[in-house]
Amino acid sequence: MHLSGIAYGGDYNPEQWPEEVWATDVALMREAGVNLVSIGIFSWALLETDEGRFDPSWLDRMMDLLHRAGIAVDLATPTAAPPAWLTRRHPQIRPVTREGHVLGQGARAGFCPSSTAYAEAAAHITEQLGRRYAGHPALALWHVHNEYGGHVPACYCDASAAAFRVWLQERYGGLSALNAAWGTAFWGQRYGDWEEIDPPRLAPSAVNPAQQLDFVRFSSDALLDCFRRERDILHRVSPGVPVTTNFMASSCKNIDYWKWAREVDIVSNDHYLRGEEPDNHIDLSLAADLTRSLAGGRPWLLMEHSTSAVNWQSRNIAKTPGQMRRNSLAHVARGADSVMFFQWRASRAGAEKFHSAMVPHGGTQTRVWRDVVRLGADLGALAPVQGSTVTAEVGVVWDWESWWALELDWRPSSEHTYRERVWACYDRLWRWHLTVDFVHPSADLSAYRLVVVPSLYLVSTEAAANLAAYVAGGGTLVVSYFSGIVDEHDAIHPGGHPGALRELLGLTVEEFLPLRAAQTVELEQGCLGEVWAEDLVLQGAEPILHYVDGPAAGKPAITRHRFGDGHAWYLSTRLRGEHLDHVLVRACADAGVPTARADLPSSVEVVRRVGADASYLFAINHGDTDAAVPVAGTEILTGEVCDGSLKVPAGEVRVVREPRS
Ligand code: GAL
Repeated sequence: MHLSGIAYGGDYNPEQWPEEVWATDVALMREAGVNLVSIGIFSWALLETDEGRFDPSWLDRMMDLLHRAGIAVDLATPTAAPPAWLTRRHPQIRPVTREGHVLGQGARAGFCPSSTAYAEAAAHITEQLGRRYAGHPALALWHVHNEYGGHVPACYCDASAAAFRVWLQERYGGLSALNAAWGTAFWGQRYGDWEEIDPPRLAPSAVNPAQQLDFVRFSSDALLDCFRRERDILHRVSPGVPVTTNFMASSCKNIDYWKWAREVDIVSNDHYLRGEEPDNHIDLSLAADLTRSLAGGRPWLLMEHSTSAVNWQSRNIAKTPGQMRRNSLAHVARGADSVMFFQWRASRAGAEKFHSAMVPHGGTQTRVWRDVVRLGADLGALAPVQGSTVTAEVGVVWDWESWWALELDWRPSSEHTYRERVWACYDRLWRWHLTVDFVHPSADLSAYRLVVVPSLYLVSTEAAANLAAYVAGGGTLVVSYFSGIVDEHDAIHPGGHPGALRELLGLTVEEFLPLRAAQTVELEQGCLGEVWAEDLVLQGAEPILHYVDGPAAGKPAITRHRFGDGHAWYLSTRLRGEHLDHVLVRACADAGVPTARADLPSSVEVVRRVGADASYLFAINHGDTDAAVPVAGTEILTGEVCDGSLKVPAGEVRVVREPRS
């Protein structure tokens, strides 16, 4: 993207306002330092008022106005909001739920990804917009659609069923391969004709898990095909302008973003705080680290977040003074080259009128607006940070396929969830100021001294070999319970659990021993486990901690296995907080990774971006007492020169330019 400095702005929906307001908007954008806005995201019905009737004159005027003001445009294809005329003419584009309900018009995202009528109409409007604005000087970036999979991750209609069958034929070639992969001998589910196969619609009991897994894969791919079709049109008619689509990296379960990230010119992400959670800034860091990892370490765009409250949680908690600034700069610290919001001006009408905005309903006489202006000035000063990158020493394995499989029906305990384990591990590493990359289980892990595997229930033989090679080469791996259990078809790896990792971990899990609700188990040295326990038989691993009570009393709970030149740790119960620290600290010692720092409170987030001429140390104080951060260089936001230590007041952010040594 040809923008210098950090991009600043948000979703802008001028079509919701009379044109008199536009000039005010643009003047305010300039006042706030806005240099990029996303427009047209939901404007299909206002650009193509009926089939073949394309009238973009208002958008022409808007694009010109923004250009004259020096504000670049991230122009959307409006295909996330199919117009009412389209649904009326082609009712079959409406998505169908698993229960067979046909979803109606009047919201957004009402389309079936496998509908031909939708595909043709989406291609048509994309081509029209692409051709019209390809050479427009304001155009910086294409924003395809909006949050694919956000409201309707999968459609179960007949067109989807037909497309699913084609996808399966490509994947398996023949029915006998499908029957074998799906294990259809079970419950007599054998298929003799492709036409007999349906999406996993509501059924009398648990639907074949391999069928369910393949349907999620298919649905993610069907949406990806929608994206590719629009992207390819834009690449053809508007060469040289990058194309993105906004992800929901850490919150969207149904999209395999590892696959998607390879298809965009630049990765962009939306993140919203879970307002009620006290440590929601750690979840923000997780989302930012995951997004950077999807981007292969390259800078990425924060496409949406909020200036204050959202409107769609149960209780929409407003941000406290300073929180928006900390949130925004935490994204930048972790590799974002933009700070964008939903949305520029709060909507008067519609479902999102209680959502915060850069220009709130109260206008410029508000704290939010003053904070927006201040943030714009900060980002202006941080322009040199653009393009710099973040280096992580710890890898955390993240895999959407394993997430899907882990949470299918009929597992040993429904209390065990994927996101919880990832969160529990990430949270501890965050508090030790360790920067984390998320990695696919088949990725090259050699850059990390420590790799954490939070419940990788589904693992392919190839990925298991990759983890083993990492340890054999000297790496330290920490694996949590219920990992390595099934292959890509949700079939148990043979020979006893955890089939794919047994040799690497030097043990067999003879039996899963899930705990009762609220039950805990005690381990040696005062560690407490919950939710899960296991009956382990060691075959080379050394016991580190035993169970003191519970169903596995006296048996090993935490183990360590020397494998090649490295170590593989195994945690057979759910440890959290300081109980998890107790074990992680020892694994980190194996890996030579520092843990809690005496010189830095855990509530101060410290991340470094490294550029060609300098590095930039971001220090974000989430606590309520001032902190001293060891660093030398020049603080960019205050101009302070620091020689070894810098005071970061409670709630504040500092960014120090450190000369490259
Ligand atoms: C996002 C969406 C935006 C807006 C926002 C509200 O998920 O992309 O259009 O709805 O949520 O928080």
